[in-house]
Amino acid sequence: MSENILVTGGAGYIGSHTCKVLAQAGYSPVTLDNLVYGHPWAVRFGPFVQADLLDRATLDRAFDEYRPSAVLHFAAFTYVGESVTDPGKYYRNNAAGTLTLLEAMRDHGCGRMVFSSSCAVYGLPQALPLTEGHPQAPMNPYGVSKAMSERMMADFGLAHGLRSVCLRYFNAAGADPEGGLGEDHDPETHLIPLAVEAALGKRPPLQVFGSDYHTPDGTAVRDYVHVLDLAQAHVAALRYLESGEANDASPCSAFNLGTGRGASVAEVLAAVAAVSGRAVPHTMGPRRAGDPPMLVAQAELAEKVLGWRPAYTDVLEIIRTAWDWHATGRGAVLLDS
Ligand SMILES: NC(=O)c1ccc[n+]([C@@H]2O[C@H](COP(=O)([O-])OP(=O)(O)OC[C@H]3O[C@@H](n4cnc5c(N)ncnc54)[C@H](O)[C@@H]3O)[C@@H](O)[C@H]2O)c1
Repeated sequence: MSENILVTGGAGYIGSHTCKVLAQAGYSPVTLDNLVYGHPWAVRFGPFVQADLLDRATLDRAFDEYRPSAVLHFAAFTYVGESVTDPGKYYRNNAAGTLTLLEAMRDHGCGRMVFSSSCAVYGLPQALPLTEGHPQAPMNPYGVSKAMSERMMADFGLAHGLRSVCLRYFNAAGADPEGGLGEDHDPETHLIPLAVEAALGKRPPLQVFGSDYHTPDGTAVRDYVHVLDLAQAHVAALRYLESGEANDASPCSAFNLGTGRGASVAEVLAAVAAVSGRAVPHTMGPRRAGDPPMLVAQAELAEKVLGWRPAYTDVLEIIRTAWDWHATGRGAVLLDS
């Protein structure tokens, strides 16, 4: 019988793609999601528990019923701007949610966890590309809630033997090219879906925040990593934890997940135009407070330790999958309804 893996936030964007890849790898994903931002249609690869992470009694029942060998922890609120105006919401959901989950894992003897962390734990880069050893100075409560979660996992490792991996994603993008899964956030704040939907005429012109950065074309540069590559990294992290390589000396490890190649906002808009044959309507605006000019990952550690390498290294190919999803897939259906 295949192992059950509890996937918190499995009805969301990255979690649902990961459930598909888990099932393909022979695991049985059990999704736990409160559907605040997730979608019932995205839960297609195993049982579904509709529950809030902070509801300890329901968590206990899920651990009793499914006896997962590991937890992949995606569930979180993800809006950086909102975390600044409503920090309590983020500390409660993301930090206290992680704590509730860790205590349930401890009490049910579940000793392996892979966590969706973020490059937001670093704050403003002092050097690029960002390595895992870069000092951590998160600039908003969202980033702090991720850093706090990582710290809790390390402490639970020392005290209770938890073995864990923190995957620090850069900018997730793209969709499953086989269809049926893709990015569908409401509100949407990510550049690629906003640009694609603006090109489709589903949104007003895109506002570009800042064109006077010290970057090659003046617009901000980010490291876009395909959602299926992130999903594969979770399987690699699970196998790493199963192999026993995480031990008392190193119970909790962190890995950057990016391509190591930055793409500027202007390059993304040009790629959307190239893929779609339509210009992306946009206006140039001022910089947004707190946005670093450039965030690019050094992801060699994930390759060395987990054997992970992104299959998608060209932002144009990532955007092609996003375009197909929004233009012909579920995204288009939802936008029309
Ligand atoms: N999308 C990115 O570019 C990116 C980058 C870095 C890190 N991350 C992290 O990856 C994870 C997944 O991101 P995503 O883009 O798929 O987000 P998403 O909003 O699509 O998915 C998150 C899911 O968690 C669920 N959820 C939230 N709080 C919950 C709770 N208390 N109980 C149960 N379910 C809850 C939501 O309903 C949603 O389905 C998040 O932890 C996010 O912080 C994402």
